[in-house]
Amino acid sequence: MRTYLVTGGAGFIGSNYIHYMFRKYDNEIRIINVDKLTYAGNLENLKDIENRENYSFVKADICDKEAIRKIFKDNDIDRVVHFAAESHVDRSIKNPEVFIETNVLGTATMLNAAKEAWEKADGTFAEGKKFLHVSTDEVYGSLPDDGKSFFYETTPYDPHSPYSASKASSDFIVKSYIDTYHFPANITNTSNNYGPYQFPEKLIPLVINNCLQGKELPVYGDGRNIRDWLFVDDHAKGIDMVQEMGTLGQKYNIGGHNERRNIDIIKTIIHTLQEILPDDDPRKANVSEDLITFVTDRKGHDRRYAIAPDKIKAEIGWFPETTFEVGIKKTVEWYLAHMDWMENVTSGTYQKYYEDMYSGR
Ligand code: NAD
Ligand code: TYD
Repeated sequence: MRTYLVTGGAGFIGSNYIHYMFRKYDNEIRIINVDKLTYAGNLENLKDIENRENYSFVKADICDKEAIRKIFKDNDIDRVVHFAAESHVDRSIKNPEVFIETNVLGTATMLNAAKEAWEKADGTFAEGKKFLHVSTDEVYGSLPDDGKSFFYETTPYDPHSPYSASKASSDFIVKSYIDTYHFPANITNTSNNYGPYQFPEKLIPLVINNCLQGKELPVYGDGRNIRDWLFVDDHAKGIDMVQEMGTLGQKYNIGGHNERRNIDIIKTIIHTLQEILPDDDPRKANVSEDLITFVTDRKGHDRRYAIAPDKIKAEIGWFPETTFEVGIKKTVEWYLAHMDWMENVTSGTYQKYYEDMYSGR
């Protein structure tokens, strides 16, 4: 049975990945989830699987060398899937320091602990051990609004925000371990994800939440910045496929040619809510394009991101299964069915959930 060490598994993509992996492999794998439970980590995301025999949770900071070493010591880890990070660009502009600590130093800690556990006396690595570093397309910088330039794996790095610079640094550290030690790792660079369990500071859940409360929908700048949106389950599938079928040492871009302007995303959410909400739901009256409010632009706002997924398609056969129309409807429906989740993450109640659930363990 393969044992996975997943970092940041209580966050948005990490929790969706853990769900995906148990759906796919059921009892054939064991997952240990290590998460510090920052404001973005929520154990309620994993409530339905927390009692599985083949799942365990460790509350730890990835910068805590001893805690991470102990996990490797106590368990024969076969796969590391490293999601844990500070992930929000706006927060990185306000407070870059924690991004450097977690994203750069935390990644180095994970690499060192894995290297120590997996390296043999002759400097080679035990068979079958693999580390996957989850990164972003934001490391490549910003593309012109021309619809025909794309990010390839060979595109030079040109990060602009403290978030993307910290992710770029972490990618280079992983690359250096691959190049220097032949450390068995892959790097994936993925476009903007959307789907269930995303913290409502990111565009899509923020717009859904604000619409339902009749609050203004803040559009940065002219609203014409473009992001390349990927349904989170397709990302989870891509990570698993890269780890099992990719060439060790290689990096892969994951994205599905789904470019949208922010203003169009916002309008799509408004129309989807208008379509889904029943007429007798009092929130329906709130949902209108009148809520759209143009606000001061984000500092250093990247204009356009667009992934060329040619390599992962050709080498591994990955493709996104979920069209945007289907994915956004699923996402809006999920939030409508989980308003208690939204309430809890915005009020901080989930931290209490953790205390109740894990005190004395
Ligand atoms: P998220 O903010 O929802 O979750 C991050 C998780 O990491 C949380 O559970 C948090 O508690 C945990 N964490 C933070 N600091 C930690 C620390 N020091 N020690 C242990 N755990 C810690 O982020 P996400 O959107 O799920 O992103 C996951 C990964 O995917 C990140 O590495 C991010 O850079 C990358 N990524 C995200 C996107 C996206 O659209 N969200 C796109 C491409 C790549
Ligand atoms: P975000 O979800 O923060 O992801 P990222 O910055 O990593 O791409 O933002 C997506 C886009 O939406 C980005 O161009 C910034 C814009 N945006 C707004 O216009 N208003 C908002 O309130 C937020 C959070 C983002």
